Amino acid sequence: MGRAAAAAAVLAAAAACAVAGVAVGRRVSSRRKWGRVIDVLKELEEGCDTPVGRLKQVVDAVAVEMHAGLASEGGSKLRMLLTFVDNLPSGREKGTFYALDLGGTYFRVLRVQLGGQRSSILSHDVERQPIPEHLMTGRTKDLFDFIASVFKQFVEREESGSGYPLDRRRDLGFTFSFPVKQTSVSSGILMKWTKGFAIEDMVGKEVVACLQEAFTRNGLDVRVAALVNDTVGTLALGHYHDADTVAAVIIGTGTNACYVERTDAIIKCQGLLTTSGGMVVNMEWGNFWSSHLPRTSYDVDLDADSPNPNDQGFEKMISGMYLGEIVRRVILRMTLESDIFGPVSSKTPLMAAMHEDDSPDLTEVERILRDILEVRDVPLKVRKLAVNVCDVVTRRAARLAAAGIVGILKKIGRDGSGGIVSGRSRPDTRMRRTVVAIEGGLYTNYGMFREYLNEAVVEILGEEVAQHVILRETEDGSGIGAALLAASNSSRNVDTVQML
Ligand code: BGC
Repeated sequence: MGRAAAAAAVLAAAAACAVAGVAVGRRVSSRRKWGRVIDVLKELEEGCDTPVGRLKQVVDAVAVEMHAGLASEGGSKLRMLLTFVDNLPSGREKGTFYALDLGGTYFRVLRVQLGGQRSSILSHDVERQPIPEHLMTGRTKDLFDFIASVFKQFVEREESGSGYPLDRRRDLGFTFSFPVKQTSVSSGILMKWTKGFAIEDMVGKEVVACLQEAFTRNGLDVRVAALVNDTVGTLALGHYHDADTVAAVIIGTGTNACYVERTDAIIKCQGLLTTSGGMVVNMEWGNFWSSHLPRTSYDVDLDADSPNPNDQGFEKMISGMYLGEIVRRVILRMTLESDIFGPVSSKTPLMAAMHEDDSPDLTEVERILRDILEVRDVPLKVRKLAVNVCDVVTRRAARLAAAGIVGILKKIGRDGSGGIVSGRSRPDTRMRRTVVAIEGGLYTNYGMFREYLNEAVVEILGEEVAQHVILRETEDGSGIGAALLAASNSSRNVDTVQML
């Protein structure tokens, strides 16, 4: 080999070495980056851990806070609001009733025909419309005019179809799913907004009066016979189908629960008399807080950036409005540690689709990352990582909701701690069949969430007790239940709730 040839060979070898060196360097640096991403995941898993011992602490904290919220006004972050619903629908309700449902992603109008026997809903028609975003943060009048005009169009169509005159008086249940301080079953004052609504001039106002004024402006003759929270509608429908239903839970855009409480346990309202001896209490559990909740830096940041910081802490760990945002924040952090994702945004329904992708090469995850989050060419192991993040966040949410449910059962003595059915040992303390009605998109449409929640209830209660507890999905309780409550309240001439 001549000198020149030798030099060329050395140069080529050097170049080859340099290329190989860069490749090795890249591999080393990408391995390092991947390691950092895995650290982020591990840290998330640890931060979101909900072993059964911790869940039991949350159960106890829920029960304690329920007592405190019932003992005095403002005694707990759980507001434990009176609903003035003392009798749940019996099944004898008959006739045509209407419901308006405001509080989720859609505004809905329903007409429900009741047949006069338990579980005899003859028919129900629903119309739903997305709530224009500007109305969620605009003025009271505009929101209620929108509601009244959608209702007007609904009854105008009905009138042309059935000869039902527009000016005929209609009885209606209004589902308004925000914290309301009720003054009767059909009146109440908005305490604060949640779930992204923020109409300043509405806080402190009488909700039904705002609606009635809008009806009058639109020439409608409507009697609002019941003002209800969506949980209360769900409980009403649950109880209509199954008289053992004692509580209801919503896990959708927001989250909350209500249950039937003995009036003598509502200490903050002494002298409250009802014919049934009980009353439905709207817990507003979205605002529950306890130091036992597994809070991560993502939760802290999400809260600080939200329109309602230091508020609705439980809701921000559980409900659909926030889970996707937590996932987005985790993925963003992973992106800062490495460049595996690039800039991203994420929403909860996509999160469910990614999480539930059971194809071997995660094609749905790939599609969502590519088409919606505009992140291309994501290798399988990174797709798996995205699924892991969804899993950790969802599992924590579902297990905390389960602890909330068992907390209610504990408060009303249905958690088996007084002993269970059988036997010679404690024949006096029977664990009664206990039904909890559940609704909301996260529970209904997100199979993994549902599985984790159901599983955690059994884990906390133990299998023997859990056999007596039935979590029952109701369909459209927030709407149909409000119509049922309008029916039971319009047929009663005498108000059965009295304050002494
Ligand atoms: C509201 C509750 C409602 C729940 C579910 C929460 O944000 O404060 O009143 O029941 O969402 O819709």
